[in-house]
Amino acid sequence: MLGTPVTAPNQRTRDSADRDTATAAPPLYTIGSSAAERDRLRSQTDELHEHTVALLEHVGVQPGWKALELACGPRGVLEMLVQHVGPSGAVTGLDINPLHVTQARQHVTALGLPNVSVIQGDARRTALPAASFDLVYARLILVNIPDPERVVAEMVRLVKPGGWIACEEADGGAMLCHPPHPAYTRLTNTLKALYRRDGADIFIGRRLPELLDTAGLVDIGVEARADVPPPDHPRRTVILDILQAMSPKIIEQRLLSAAEHDQLDRNARSHLDDPHTMIVPHLSFMAWGRKAHQSA
Ligand SMILES: C[S@@+](CC[C@H](N)C(=O)[O-])C[C@H]1O[C@@H](n2cnc3c(N)ncnc32)[C@H](O)[C@@H]1O
Repeated sequence: MLGTPVTAPNQRTRDSADRDTATAAPPLYTIGSSAAERDRLRSQTDELHEHTVALLEHVGVQPGWKALELACGPRGVLEMLVQHVGPSGAVTGLDINPLHVTQARQHVTALGLPNVSVIQGDARRTALPAASFDLVYARLILVNIPDPERVVAEMVRLVKPGGWIACEEADGGAMLCHPPHPAYTRLTNTLKALYRRDGADIFIGRRLPELLDTAGLVDIGVEARADVPPPDHPRRTVILDILQAMSPKIIEQRLLSAAEHDQLDRNARSHLDDPHTMIVPHLSFMAWGRKAHQSA
């Protein structure tokens, strides 16, 4: 999934759920924590499970490691990290949205995972001690913020020499729909415009190796996947669902009127209901790299 971009400070908007629940800490995740957005974030952990398994295997996560997930959302991959690091390891989750932090805590408590803690913080400046993790992982945060390099720099600061950084990000370069449909095309173009206006790079997936390289990492690897969700699979409509969640912003920025959005959404969903329609929502990139040991 792409998630939804964090609005640059001078463009910040809040939905009604945010107004009810948010603290004063900026910047806010654009869509906040509406029930639909929370549910979508929780279920995407299952939907992207195979990608994450592959990424953690590429890294070779070991029992006993200390792992950090930045921007973990209400669930993220905390439970998957715990499975890999085992009872002798430890996992920390961090998110800027206090409601997501509370939900992630509830999630790990419900699963009975003792060696996980979830804290509130900004992935660009966590205030966690430098060189304190064997693995720093992040999914679908770099695509959603205007300054991804700052998060990558913080990841590098936090990982121990010899430790690993792992990222999973979307790339909107292949939002395929075949046969094409004008409503789906218009909506994907709207999504691209929203990201552009927020200063977020919807094509960031392909830039991951470059970002890790520029940050000074070594042993960099990359893998890209293009999922083709079958009829009735939740990811088939992920682009439309994200746009639904962003509807207030679409209207506020006058990209579409509410009536236009509703009509386009209905038309596009009806096209996607046709089992003969083939969808690739976006590309998924996984990249990993290691912080070099200090030279003698
Ligand atoms: C698209 S969601 C992805 C959540 C989770 N990584 C996953 O893949 O399920 C993006 C998350 O980033 C969080 N976020 C946005 N900006 C952040 C920042 N500066 N620092 C920490 N978390 C941030 C949001 O609150 C949200 O939970």
